[in-house]
Amino acid sequence: MDTIEPTVQGARGDLAGRHIVLGLTGGIACYKSAELCRLLIKQGASVQVVMTEAAERFITAVTMQALSNRPVYGSQWDAREPNNMPHINLSREADAILIAPCSADFMARLVQGRSDELLSLLCLARPAQRVPLLIAPAMNREMWLHPATRRNMAQLAADGAVLLGVGSGEQACGETGDGRMLEPAELVEDLIAQLSPRTLVGQHVLVTAGPTFEAIDPVRGITNLSSGKMGFAIARAAREAGAQVTLVAGPVHLPTPRGVTRVDVRSARELLLAVERHVDAATVFIATAAVADWRPASAAAHKIKKDGSGQVPALAFVENPDVLARVAQSERARSGALYCVGFAAESEDLVAHAQAKRARKGVPLLVGNIGPATFGRDDNQLLLVDAVGVRELPRASKQVLARQLIAEIQARLAAR
Ligand code: CTP
Repeated sequence: MDTIEPTVQGARGDLAGRHIVLGLTGGIACYKSAELCRLLIKQGASVQVVMTEAAERFITAVTMQALSNRPVYGSQWDAREPNNMPHINLSREADAILIAPCSADFMARLVQGRSDELLSLLCLARPAQRVPLLIAPAMNREMWLHPATRRNMAQLAADGAVLLGVGSGEQACGETGDGRMLEPAELVEDLIAQLSPRTLVGQHVLVTAGPTFEAIDPVRGITNLSSGKMGFAIARAAREAGAQVTLVAGPVHLPTPRGVTRVDVRSARELLLAVERHVDAATVFIATAAVADWRPASAAAHKIKKDGSGQVPALAFVENPDVLARVAQSERARSGALYCVGFAAESEDLVAHAQAKRARKGVPLLVGNIGPATFGRDDNQLLLVDAVGVRELPRASKQVLARQLIAEIQARLAAR
């Protein structure tokens, strides 16, 4: 077997020290559970796989044992447990139980509180206050839409289970629609969020991210080296903390973090419009976007051609709106109903520039970083500048820094 590489932030992943019971029930999506198991381990979790008899028709216990590095459990009569109570032992060790795939039949079993096989038995026996039960349904689209499935889903949610939703698209049966199991990476992101401290519940966080693109003509434009990674990481961290999150993104090729509402924009003016549309609902505004300061005064309707004379075109520029400064001057920001956080991408003299920028933009918290040292990278180091002084967040992955920044913002919100 090949080895599993450590995650970006080093030996410890986002699930380091966590023990997950991964339950498989009967469905073709079991083939994705092998990858899911691998990703959970890559994030530092230990994984105990439990399979129903139907799941073993789709994927073997040998595969899951090899990937999890632990014997798979399948029977409540498993004699390996000295007290002969695998349902108690397995559910007490767990930090979370994730059923993926969860079949329509298994949901019905959970609703009824059935306990005639190990997986439903251990779900029933779990200490519900401490061990969340996450369900990743997978079934044919007609089964998914059936009133019986709808009823069972509602009852499971009422009983305290976390329903993770489904994907949409081509199904193994040849039909197209809702009911596919979510992708393994999506499930891992949801599980990490579920196990995170829920410090921003009730907050609505609006984030801007990425570069802007200012058109010169239909094929050319002015942009910058911002990758959007820091802003996307912040949106993800805010969602993990339980906030409602809207992400206004310039042109970047990054996947939308789970549970985040994304609005794509291109130019600074589009970014301003999107922010104006969403800012009234927000309680926190975090401006990480590298907004172009200037744009061509007018974009040519057609491609500007060389005329052979060697003359270069004369480009005139006008200044773009300063989105952060406008938001920070709004009534809601000044009254404290909206907490504004700015970023500063500098190339030198970070402390002085960041302090001056904080004052100029009129924001309570400004986060400085050295642009050329971070653009496109997965790690960064940040400097927090507020009314009290300056504090450094040392080099780490952008996701780790994003979580630290969210904790810093939460502490400042709580202190008001
Ligand atoms: N910003 C903005 N709208 C702009 C320019 C910047 O919202 N038109 C925001 C950025 O998202 C960031 C902060 O303002 O949060 C600082 O951006 P930065 O580019 O570092 O500073 P500038 O305002 O452009 O100042 P300077 O060019 O002097 O560095």
